[in-house]
Amino acid sequence: MADNNGIVKFRTSPVFEPLLAPARYKGAWGGRGSGKSHFFASLAVEMAYQEPGTLIVCIREIQKSLKESAKRLIEDKIEHHGLEAHGFRILEDRIETPGDGLIIFLGMQNHTAESLKSLEGYKYAWVEQAETLSQRSFDILRPTIRTKGSELWFSWNPRRRTDAVDLFFRGSSPPSNAICVKTSWRDNKWWSKTLEGERLDCLHGQPELYDHIWEGDYEKIVSGAYYAASLTAARGSGRISRCYADPLMTYKAFWDIGGTGAKAPLMTKSMLSHMRARCRQPASTYR
Ligand SMILES: Nc1ncnc2c1ncn2[C@@H]1O[C@H](COP(=O)(O)OP(=O)(O)OP(=O)(O)O)[C@@H](O)[C@H]1O
Ligand SMILES: [Mg+2]
Repeated sequence: MADNNGIVKFRTSPVFEPLLAPARYKGAWGGRGSGKSHFFASLAVEMAYQEPGTLIVCIREIQKSLKESAKRLIEDKIEHHGLEAHGFRILEDRIETPGDGLIIFLGMQNHTAESLKSLEGYKYAWVEQAETLSQRSFDILRPTIRTKGSELWFSWNPRRRTDAVDLFFRGSSPPSNAICVKTSWRDNKWWSKTLEGERLDCLHGQPELYDHIWEGDYEKIVSGAYYAASLTAARGSGRISRCYADPLMTYKAFWDIGGTGAKAPLMTKSMLSHMRARCRQPASTYR
């Protein structure tokens, strides 16, 4: 709600505060329910309010309809702060903001570098669910958002180390002029009983997926993998470690050829008291 001086207070969890400073690239990654979407939705509204005439685009890799976009969340922020009385106007496919500003919503897969040229005057681009953003989309987007002081924001739940957004922010040469924060459910000031119930159910019922879903780890085991539970138990009891090749030992190779093209080569060596297995999992099963 705006106070008598027209100042609107946007509340932020401390973990996101570094992202309030200007930077060409901003990223927030982590597990489910950590407040990433709410933070960037608030930031978009705040920028539209503080900088009249600002153009903002909210992007997904795939957006078949506006229902899949961040529009509803942004509308909630506008209503929550009573900003319709301050020049915000919610239309069917876009939001008009003070001083002829705009917030629009698009899916990268419906566009080419050519059709995105209309975004050149946009100052802020927020990519939601950025783990699904393809390298092609990433490469098109970066030079398109080029107006003075423009920023690209990314929020995501990490999936694979090789996804474009992870290579960009968390790879061997992160971009200059970037601020990136790791978030988790612990950082969410609005954490609810419902979400806590979901988290605990996952912890006990699907422990092999817990770190990926709730702590923001990369996917290690594709759900449904035959040995997911056994591998998780092995990791939990410290039975997964480095195993060095001994040239004097005899090795046996087993090759599970699978039925779908996923193959799991397994090397074993017998010790006096136990058998050690060296496993090189296929990319489609283990990452
Ligand atoms: N700034 C906020 N104001 C009000 N509620 C919030 C705020 N931040 C988080 N929440 C609450 O916490 C929940 C989780 O936040 P949010 O959806 O932003 O998390 P997320 O990290 O985007 O989760 P996911 O990875 O599942 O998309 C929201 O549904 C909302 O109830
Ligand atoms: Mg979200």
